[in-house]
Amino acid sequence: MKKEIKTKTFLEYVAPSIKDARLRLDRETHQVSYTLDEKYKGMGNDKKYLLKTYGCQANLSDSEKISGILEFLGFEETFEEEDADLIIFNTCAIRENAEDRVFGELGRISQLKYKNSDLVVVVCGCMPQEEKTVSLLKQKYKQVDLVIGTHNFYKIGEYLKKIYETSQRITLVYSKEGEVVEMPFSKRVSNVKAWVDIMYGCDEFCTYCIVPYTRGKERSRLPESIIKEVKELISLGYKEITLLGQNVNAYGKDLNINYFFSDLLNDLGKLDIKRIRFTTSHPKDFDHATSLAMANNKNIMPHLHLPVQSGSNKILKKMNRKYTKEEYLEKISFLKSQVKDVSLTTDIIVAFPTESEEDFEETLDLVRKADFEGAYTFVYSKREGTPAAKMVDDLEEEVKKNRLYKLNELINEGFAKGNKRFEGEVVEVLVDGKSEKKDSLLMGYTKHNKLVNFEGDESLIGELVNIKITKAFTWHLFGEVLENSK
Ligand code: 5AD
Ligand code: SF4
Repeated sequence: MKKEIKTKTFLEYVAPSIKDARLRLDRETHQVSYTLDEKYKGMGNDKKYLLKTYGCQANLSDSEKISGILEFLGFEETFEEEDADLIIFNTCAIRENAEDRVFGELGRISQLKYKNSDLVVVVCGCMPQEEKTVSLLKQKYKQVDLVIGTHNFYKIGEYLKKIYETSQRITLVYSKEGEVVEMPFSKRVSNVKAWVDIMYGCDEFCTYCIVPYTRGKERSRLPESIIKEVKELISLGYKEITLLGQNVNAYGKDLNINYFFSDLLNDLGKLDIKRIRFTTSHPKDFDHATSLAMANNKNIMPHLHLPVQSGSNKILKKMNRKYTKEEYLEKISFLKSQVKDVSLTTDIIVAFPTESEEDFEETLDLVRKADFEGAYTFVYSKREGTPAAKMVDDLEEEVKKNRLYKLNELINEGFAKGNKRFEGEVVEVLVDGKSEKKDSLLMGYTKHNKLVNFEGDESLIGELVNIKITKAFTWHLFGEVLENSK
């Protein structure tokens, strides 16, 4: 017999307001540390959690912290829905299709709730930071027990305790960020490559983007906290770090200590970490000092992901990107003059409101001039509460699709060309694991962030290996192991 879902009332209901989230009143960044009292320990003993992560690296990094907290509490990870006592959706709000996927999953999950009414379902991440989504979750998705946002997700242990004690639903989402929260919890997915948050939030307010509302104002971590974390990672044997922020080039601007992103790169470059990457960069703030730091530190990888979004100055202005096509090209030309073989990738949005055929042609022209070796390309998606949502968006679906198709054709040419330049070369690869496509092959990435497949022994996983590239394909390289370059 099916069990009924318990009828629960709301213990607390605080929802975000997009209007409040827009405010940037408190310029000062506050740093606090958070840890969990011993009394919470053991709460998850004999319970299993399943964590589903959607979206960008910020969410992947937050998920590692959530796992760290849950395992401190005694929960054990599972990858099987049927075994789970706790299912967490760490969600993304960047485009409508990302949200639709989560709503679909939540619909499906209600079946599990009928079988096991003790199952606790949590929704966190960017979706709950949207006013509309919170009320939808509250009214229509009764299978969800806990809704929390990006500013308080780290208190998940405390909220779960309340739920276990009272069986009530909790919705607690704040409009405004709190502090930079330092915490000792993180269960890293890899023991070779690590994410390192350097800043949170975004102050750019690109007119199409929901992120400044869902992740709050720019808040930088102190350099000493970042350097300490990286030193710990080195002592644990990590070989690669990726510095994370929505706009890493704005790092330090809120700290008032006259210390910026290029300073951080130069300081981290002196440490004994083999590979340093960073994402995401913003063309407005990407400066020559950063290009020079890339050129002067051999452990900073020669790859830059620099989202351009459009090649039309008219559209860039409407997007509030604060740079022109010419300024973008100048910055990458300086970088290429300093880091000769650098590989460049980007993000592009097509069919932004009012984008004409000429505007789109300008984007294609910029793609040709910039020589991108890869790109994430998107059709504009309307996000409620953003300024672009009020712009006239009357392009036919067919036109949107055609533009995306045409752009992708050109991007793929750049991808293939970028791979081809390594045919016959010897490249250093950090071996990630077995190839997803073929179990007998290993895979890893080069300094330029190119995917390489090759035959090799599993003992090479986690090592830096020299590989001779024998064939370049559009999406990957194929090669032979020369030697272990440890
Ligand atoms: N529609 C389409 N793409 C978007 N992006 C951000 N917001 C939107 C939107 N509303 C893209 C941008 C950004 C990347 C992470 O997602 O290209 O760089
Ligand atoms: Fe969004 Fe622009 Fe901030 Fe990137 S820089 S997160 S696109 S608002």
